[in-house]
Amino acid sequence: MSEDDTHLDPSVLGTKAHWDDLYALELTNHAANPSDIGTVWFSDADCETRIYRYLTDELELPSSATFLDVGTGNGHLLFSLLEDGDFVGEGMVGVDYSERSVELAKNIASQTPGAEDVRFLQLDIIKETPELEFFGAQVANEGGFDVVLDKGTFDAISLSDERLEDGRRVYEIYPEKVAKWVKPQDGVLLITSCNWTEEELVRKVTAGGGLEASGRVRYPEFTFGGKKGSAVCTVAFKRTR
Ligand SMILES: C[S@@+](CC[C@H](N)C(=O)[O-])C[C@H]1O[C@@H](n2cnc3c(N)ncnc32)[C@H](O)[C@@H]1O
Repeated sequence: MSEDDTHLDPSVLGTKAHWDDLYALELTNHAANPSDIGTVWFSDADCETRIYRYLTDELELPSSATFLDVGTGNGHLLFSLLEDGDFVGEGMVGVDYSERSVELAKNIASQTPGAEDVRFLQLDIIKETPELEFFGAQVANEGGFDVVLDKGTFDAISLSDERLEDGRRVYEIYPEKVAKWVKPQDGVLLITSCNWTEEELVRKVTAGGGLEASGRVRYPEFTFGGKKGSAVCTVAFKRTR
């Protein structure tokens, strides 16, 4: 924590150069060995299976549900949803600001049965503000995605030292940027974090008033210093307007 204990100290994980270098390496590794798909974040916590169960058992999403994965990396979260269930790749989009992530995800998709329809696009979700048409006609007609997924991306952006013109840290504008891609009525934003506690995550994401917490994915809890917690948290948010 920094002097202002409501922010995280900036780190290299908050820089695009870090992710470009990582995905350049992962592209090389994948080219040499196609079974090497690179890092699957939070796999220790069985995060992707838990997210799938939450979406199907608790939210009871139909197979036609549309998904946007922000900061998609190697695209594995989308591929795991395809593999686990009856969701279809046609309604899935992954975006990342690193061109090399997009290239890696596309390469993996071309070798993953059923994933050929998943689209991967380069987008800086903080610096760019595309209209829904950017993601395709279906999403524009429906007013947004059923589910916007974020696994580790809000975490990475929270570690950036960049500031907005008004002096705020860039992560503080994330909720208003991402909320507009979530369907207004029943769409959900699902953020998975290891840098913020569940309580902090809810506070940060709901601060602007455009989103409210609507649920959570369960993880095994441990007790430390009399407090209960888990190494990773995943919180669901809905739009308030
Ligand atoms: C911890 S990694 C997680 C990758 C992927 N979600 C996963 O679970 O494997 C964070 C990702 O966020 C991406 N990212 C960071 N800042 C971003 C931004 N402003 N716009 C889009 N992507 C961003 C990085 O390139 C990286 O792929």
